[in-house]
Amino acid sequence: MSNMSLNAIEQNQGAAPQHEIVLLNQVVEEKSTGLRFAIPSLGQFATGFLLRFNGQLYAYVNQCAHIPIELDWNQGDFLDSSKQFIVCATHGAHYLPESGQCVIGPCKGKQLKQLHVTEKMTECGNEITILID
Ligand code: FES
Repeated sequence: MSNMSLNAIEQNQGAAPQHEIVLLNQVVEEKSTGLRFAIPSLGQFATGFLLRFNGQLYAYVNQCAHIPIELDWNQGDFLDSSKQFIVCATHGAHYLPESGQCVIGPCKGKQLKQLHVTEKMTECGNEITILID
């Protein structure tokens, strides 16, 4: 059974404070269901998500660049049927998983808000750290 912890730690790095979200022992499988997480510093209901694409972990704020609503109609379903694009369930915008750039749809050329993410293995499992600024 997986164990999740959430830490919001303010860091004094320059003018804008950053918050750090740490997720422990979470499995994010290749081109599979995205892992959603809360981002309380962006609002009561704000969420982000993690995807693994070509072995790399990516994190985004879960908000379409067209209209600021969540991308996934079914929670965690962020990829299209070909598993090549992040897709918005509302009007079908398609985003590149590596950059968050919209390449098809009403917000073509705009970007999802990408979050810096790192992953390391510890003796207790993996540790995923996401920076929110
Ligand atoms: S709300 Fe996402 S494409 Fe319109």
